[in-house]
Amino acid sequence: MLGRILLWAAEKSWIQETVTRWRVTRGVVDRFVAGSDLEDAINAIKELNGVGIGGILDLLGEGVTDPDGAAVAAGEYLASIKRIEETGIDTTVSVKLTQLGLAFDKGACIDHLRRLAAEAEAAGTSVEIDMEQSDYVSDTLDVYRLLQSDFPKLRLAIQAYLRRTPVDLEEMADIRPRIRLVKGAYAEPEELALHKKREIKAQFSFLADWLFEKGSDPALATHDGELIEGALKAARLSGVGDEDFEIQMLYGIRADLQRKLAGMGFRVRTYVPFGSTWYPYLTRRLAERPANVRFFLRALIGR
Ligand code: FDA
Repeated sequence: MLGRILLWAAEKSWIQETVTRWRVTRGVVDRFVAGSDLEDAINAIKELNGVGIGGILDLLGEGVTDPDGAAVAAGEYLASIKRIEETGIDTTVSVKLTQLGLAFDKGACIDHLRRLAAEAEAAGTSVEIDMEQSDYVSDTLDVYRLLQSDFPKLRLAIQAYLRRTPVDLEEMADIRPRIRLVKGAYAEPEELALHKKREIKAQFSFLADWLFEKGSDPALATHDGELIEGALKAARLSGVGDEDFEIQMLYGIRADLQRKLAGMGFRVRTYVPFGSTWYPYLTRRLAERPANVRFFLRALIGR
């Protein structure tokens, strides 16, 4: 219940404006966000690289409503790619298509993404596409399909909680898609998404098996120990080598497990968000775990 209230709050701009002004929230933000500047994220990724973990650089921001906003976000991503090349860090970059204008101009969004993917490739890295609310899923799939033949390293996030996902994946089988599998982080109605944890986990496992068989270089993005263990077993059973898939987690969550898996020789990447538009991202993280809400409330009352 609390989780669904928080997911509702994540999409309300008036709550965002108020909460973002509270200076006391900074401590909570710091746990999940690398900092407000690109250099903060670069430093966080350098540290991860030092222990054998790759990065996924994410400029916070979503739901951009005007062409200038989308152009600014694309420009910031280009600057990030340039810094990745200069510093030689091991990281991909992750974008939300609504940050690049998907909600109002799909053509311009495609142009921005094409440029980012080309620059990333030239810099020796690649782009990952986050998956957002269900309203954007069909367009996001279209954009991925359109660009993936020119940029085979492009990776797309797919949400296990959506009822449509098994069909979406089957429809992409011909291109052996490069997927990041996640449970799904948005408030979706029951007609569109599974709500029971047990059912979401079962669908995640089913889709992970599908990806080992029919995808390319799958990324399993979860902190759920049971699902990770299941995926490692499934990979072994399908003859997929440890280098042929990766495990992805979020900055500030289960850092111990991230290091342990990297130490065991698995490929691990950590999603490292930075920037000042942290409110929707942070609220989704709080919704995932009641203990985080207590942490947030304690920070608010200053103890
Ligand atoms: P679950 O929430 O069940 O957590 C399992 C365990 O992990 C918990 O018991 C706890 O120990 C720990 N844990 C999990 N979340 C925590 C938190 N917030 N704080 C502290 N501990 C926590 N979603 C989406 O819709 N579109 C996307 O593009 C992406 N992209 C993405 C990238 C990466 C790299 C990751 C890891 C996740 C995403 N997600 C996402 C988010 C995803 O959909 C999901 O909401 C979260 O990963 C939480 O689900 P888990 O699978 O981790 O399990």
